[in-house]
Amino acid sequence: MVEFDAFDLEHRPDPYPRYRVLRETAPFCPVRLGAARVTVATTYEGCSAVLQGAEWGRGYTEGLNPFRPGVAPGEVPGGSFLGMDPPEHTRLRGLVSRAFTPRASLAEAPFVRLVVDRLLDQAVAAGGLDIVEDLARPLSLAVMCRLLGVPTADGPSLVSWIGGIARGTDPDYLLTPADIVVRTAAARDLGRYLFELAATRRALPRDDLLSRLVTSQRDQEVLTEREVIELCGLLLAAGLDTTANLIANGVLALLRHPDQLALLRERPEILPAAIEEMIRFDPPSQFVTRVALADTTVCGRPFRRGDGVVVLSASGHRDPTAFADPDRFDVTRYAASPPARRHLGFALGTHYCLGAPLARIQAEAAIGALARRGGDLSLVTEDIEYRPNAALRGPRALLVNTPGTAG
Ligand code: HEM
Repeated sequence: MVEFDAFDLEHRPDPYPRYRVLRETAPFCPVRLGAARVTVATTYEGCSAVLQGAEWGRGYTEGLNPFRPGVAPGEVPGGSFLGMDPPEHTRLRGLVSRAFTPRASLAEAPFVRLVVDRLLDQAVAAGGLDIVEDLARPLSLAVMCRLLGVPTADGPSLVSWIGGIARGTDPDYLLTPADIVVRTAAARDLGRYLFELAATRRALPRDDLLSRLVTSQRDQEVLTEREVIELCGLLLAAGLDTTANLIANGVLALLRHPDQLALLRERPEILPAAIEEMIRFDPPSQFVTRVALADTTVCGRPFRRGDGVVVLSASGHRDPTAFADPDRFDVTRYAASPPARRHLGFALGTHYCLGAPLARIQAEAAIGALARRGGDLSLVTEDIEYRPNAALRGPRALLVNTPGTAG
C-alpha cells in the first residue's frame, strides 16, 4: 500500500511532482482511499489500456462501484449515460450525439467568437480581467444554455447547482459530508428546474436540444421524461467547469511560458495544436474512475471483478515513455510530424468526451482572441488559488493584466 497524498488540497496548485512519485513507484499503485482499496493507474500505457478495455466500466447497475459506496445495486446516480455501461449507455448517447458532431459544433463558432469579444470588451472596459469569472465560465455557460435552450437569465442558479455537482464528481472519499449534501441538493434542484423547463418546451417547442428531446419523447416514446431531464443535466454539468478549466489552465500555461505565448503569436496557425498541448500539460479532467466488470489482466497486472481503478490521465501525460521531455510545455508538440501521442484529456473508448469538438472551439476562440489582442498579457499574481475539486481541477480566479487593464 503506497502512501497516497496526491489529492490532498496542499498539492492542488501543482500535483505533478506527487504523480511522478506514484508513477516511479508502480504503473498500478495500490492505495487506500477512505475505506476503499483502489489502484491508481499512473502510466500512459496503463491508463489508456483501462480506458479502452471492454472489461472496464461503471458497474453501478451491478452494485460494483467502489467510488460511490452509498449507491445501491440497480441505481445509477445522476449523470445519465456517463454513469452507465453499454447497452444502455449506447442507446442514450446515440440520442444526443448528433448535436455534438464536429460539423454541428463548427456551426456554433460564430456565436462563440461573438460572446468572447463581448466578454473581453466588457472586462477591459470595467478595468480588470479575471479569466475564470469574466471569460471562461460565462462563455461556457452561454454556449451550453444556447444549445440546450436554457434561458441565460437563469445562469446564476445553474452555475451554483453545477458547481455542487462538479465537486461531487470526485470519489466520495475525497468529499466532506457537507459536499455530499450540497451535491444531492444541487442535483435535485437542477432536476426540478429542468422538469419545469421541459414542460414549457413541450407546450411551445423551439429550435433547441431540449425541445427536440421532449418532442421525440412524446412522438416516438424513445425516452422517458426522467431520461430527458438526466440527459440535459449531464450535458450542462459536463460542459461548464470542464471547458472553463481548459481555458483557465491553458491561459495560465501560456502566461507562465512567455516564450510559448510569443511563439503562438508568431504562428497563429498552430493554435489548435497548442490547445491539445494545453490539455496534455495541465488537463482540466485529471482523472476518471473505472471498475472491473469481470476478472481481467491489464499490462500483466491481474484485476478481480469489482476492483476500482483511478485512471490518472494527468500522470500518464507526464510519462517520459510516452512523451519526450513531458514536463516541458511546448505549443508545437502537436504541430510536429510525426504527431505527438494522443492525450487522454477527453478519455478514450466508450465514454470518450462527447463535447470535445465544442470544447476545442471555445478554447480556440477564447485563447486565440487573447493572443491576438497583443500587448503585455501577464498574471497579476503568481499566487493562484484553486477550487477544491481534485478531478475537475482548475483555478478559482485568474487575474491578468492586459493592455487595457494594467496599472
Ligand atoms: C462543451 C463542453 C463539453 C461537453 C458538452 C461535454 C460532454 C461530455 C459528455 C456528455 C460526456 C459523457 C460521455 C459518455 O459517457 O459517453 C463527457 C465525458 C468526458 N469529458 Fe466532456 N464535455 C465537454 C467538455 C470537456 C472538456 C473541456 C474536457 C477536458 C478537456 C472534458 C473531458 C471529458 C472526459 C475526461 C470525459 C470522460 C469521463 C469519464 O469517463 O468518466 N469534457 N463529456
